[in-house]
Amino acid sequence: MGGITIVLGSMADMPVDLKEQMNKIEELFVVPTAKLKHITDHFVAELERGLSEEGGTIPMIPTWCMAFPDGNETGSYLALDMGGTNLRVCEVTLTEEKGEFDIIQSKYRMPEELKTGSAEELWGYVADCLQQFIEYHHEDEKLDHLPLGFTFSYPVSQEAIDHGVLQRWTKGFDVEGVEGQDVVPGFTKALEERGVPIKLAALVNDTTGTMIASAYTNTSIKIGCIFGTGCNAAYMEECGAIPKLAHMNLDPKLPMAINCEWGAFDNEHKVLPRTKYDIVIDKESPRPGQQSFEKMVAGLYLGEIFRLVLLDLHKGNECHFFEKQNIGKLDKPYSLDAGFLASIEEDRFENLQDTGDLFLEKLGITCTKPELELIRRLAELIGTRAARLTACGVSAICKHKKWDEVHVGADGSVFTKYPHFKVRQAQALKEILDWPAKYGKGKGDPVEVMPAEDGSGVGAALIAALTVKRVQQGQLAGIRDSDAILQMAPKNAR
Ligand code: BGC
Repeated sequence: MGGITIVLGSMADMPVDLKEQMNKIEELFVVPTAKLKHITDHFVAELERGLSEEGGTIPMIPTWCMAFPDGNETGSYLALDMGGTNLRVCEVTLTEEKGEFDIIQSKYRMPEELKTGSAEELWGYVADCLQQFIEYHHEDEKLDHLPLGFTFSYPVSQEAIDHGVLQRWTKGFDVEGVEGQDVVPGFTKALEERGVPIKLAALVNDTTGTMIASAYTNTSIKIGCIFGTGCNAAYMEECGAIPKLAHMNLDPKLPMAINCEWGAFDNEHKVLPRTKYDIVIDKESPRPGQQSFEKMVAGLYLGEIFRLVLLDLHKGNECHFFEKQNIGKLDKPYSLDAGFLASIEEDRFENLQDTGDLFLEKLGITCTKPELELIRRLAELIGTRAARLTACGVSAICKHKKWDEVHVGADGSVFTKYPHFKVRQAQALKEILDWPAKYGKGKGDPVEVMPAEDGSGVGAALIAALTVKRVQQGQLAGIRDSDAILQMAPKNAR
């Protein structure tokens, strides 16, 4: 068996029926090295199919972000990030000193109802927040030079950097009338109705923003990843290696950031070791059949996978589990989040007292010692499977690009907060990529995933700056509204 298993306590005194169930669960969730390698090989093929004319399930979206920053960018730009919990507005000023910036920002709550409301309500709210930001920070100023980088972290097909047609909502969003539509006109209309003087220069995926922001301070970073509520990656390709863009006759050497949208990997269910729990999650989700990979690895789903296993143990008749306990609270879909799992994995005590307290407080369930042990192991298994599977995606990009040594900038709540995620992922990378045992003494791993710079703030602003720069230089491929962007260019943009 590959991977790290951290087992506190002992399973020795577990009743036989529970132990049998535990073994079955182990078998379901452990992904051995050979399987990781097999998944990675298929992943490489699918990334390449996504770039081909025929296309595949991984969208591999050219984003028209066509350069890394060189550190000399200047000017003030707005950045907007519409996340699941918060909406963040930043004003980023790229200063004269190479690679430096100032930032001011405000956070607004993203009301839950908006995620399933109407498009008008959504764009109206977003525009209101931008308006508030401008009024607060630029009271009585005449503003006409603030281009915006809008981090919109959903799969959008982009024929131009300042436009994007939403392929489908992910991460539980389900706003009617947006899928299949260009998201920019609705957003722009809401701004115009409110007289907010902002022009969108770039629609940015969070992964692309993460890659660009990280590369701004560390030029060895070539991949940006988000391991959070959702999961995805972007990397820098060359136009000549994107057969589906061949008809545009772009300079083959030009860089092009690709938003992989790898959450869709294996929607055909060829290689991922899906369990019956993964199948239920998919079936009950607003978009069955979509985001198969994401549903096994992203924060939105980890707690739910865990909850489904526990319920199954309780309801099935193969073992005694939570006997005579009221499981009313546990029976509620999505009642447990990844933070709940993280707390279990962080339990400080050999007797799993923190976990016992957590179950009692949050769910009104009193657990026996063997139940606690199973709970802890289950959390480890689910967290470890997620970390290991994400390593397949990172390895696949490296293999496709033939990058033996590369740095990856990563962000997202699972990456930054979930215990052991980074170590487990690094271990899986090592297993998949077969690094020599004594790789460069004292160096880090050849492929190293490291915490990213602020992608949806600085990254989005930089991409807006790079877009303005391209317009100023007359490189207009993949830019639709170049005149408007030019008019908006900050006076000191460079
Ligand atoms: C979205 C991606 C995004 C990822 C991380 C996924 O659900 O489809 O666009 O990059 O979540 O936020």
